Amino acid sequence: MVQATDGVLHHLSTLADETRARLLLLLERSEMTVSELCQVVQIPQSTVSRHLGVLSQEGWVTARSEGTSRHYRLAPSLDPTAKRLWEAVKDEVSDGAMAREDRIRAESVLEVRAQRSETFFSSQAGRWDHLRRELFGARAELQLLAGLLDPEEVVADLGCGTGQLTRLLAPYASRVVAVDRSPEMLDLARQRLREYSNVELHQGELETLPLEAQSVDVAIFALVLHYVVNPGRAFAEAHRILRPGGRLLIVDMQQHDRAAFREDMGHVWLGFSPDELGGWLEAADFRSPVRDALPADPEAEGPLLFSLRAFR
Ligand SMILES: C[S@@+](CC[C@H](N)C(=O)[O-])C[C@H]1O[C@@H](n2cnc3c(N)ncnc32)[C@H](O)[C@@H]1O
Repeated sequence: MVQATDGVLHHLSTLADETRARLLLLLERSEMTVSELCQVVQIPQSTVSRHLGVLSQEGWVTARSEGTSRHYRLAPSLDPTAKRLWEAVKDEVSDGAMAREDRIRAESVLEVRAQRSETFFSSQAGRWDHLRRELFGARAELQLLAGLLDPEEVVADLGCGTGQLTRLLAPYASRVVAVDRSPEMLDLARQRLREYSNVELHQGELETLPLEAQSVDVAIFALVLHYVVNPGRAFAEAHRILRPGGRLLIVDMQQHDRAAFREDMGHVWLGFSPDELGGWLEAADFRSPVRDALPADPEAEGPLLFSLRAFR
């Protein structure tokens, strides 16, 4: 029969080695590679690797590979016996001269990592915007901003098209109601959004929304207003469906002169000037509008955009 003491004795035998205790102390403070650990403890790599092998086999450390390096750290969840033993051993060894020296050397080894990024940014500041886009695309921060939504809020994505924005908002809102007049666009939206049970798709017109009065907290017109024959009417509808204090958000084109867009894509408006938009918003009783001319996106071929936020 296996004795309850077996686990304790086994853990004790693993910990009863000065090098292993030093490695664990270091790996509890920070993830490190084998070569970084060797620099700190000043022991040959073959010995450090052998000890790491034991610690890893016994569940004391976990490792992940990155390129050609293995990164080690103390296992995030030790079993309760191991945890208690480790706390006791740590109390004894962490104030010793050897552990203090290890800590100081570890700090300078880790400092090298920080210096690498510092050197990179001090020499590449001017290229960063370009590199950011090249590496992570233009939408990296959008998902982050969706997290600013109050999770209790209901959002209306008006003129949702194929549901790109609806998809971005769905994980963060309590419900997203998406409206579009085109069955073909809604079919694609339905496919994109099938895994979100908090999304409702409605076919309908923005000038006569198929939504209840005061039923949403945020109403969004994303790249759709230039298709709406009567924007004043669409704003009145947005006002009707918003709860008091709700937000209206718009992104659309600044005024431009690409008349071919009417023929080619059915645009009704060649963008919007601040004055004409301000007039419609005022007439629909929206308050405190903030309009922001968006910076040019080097990869976008269309006219410049603006964003606007106003309150009901
Ligand atoms: C350019 S797409 C934009 C879609 C989406 N908002 C986006 O950002 O990807 C414009 C959408 O608005 C819809 N639309 C245009 N006028 C509309 C109206 N009066 N009522 C309802 N939907 C409309 C079109 O069917 C189309 O799907």
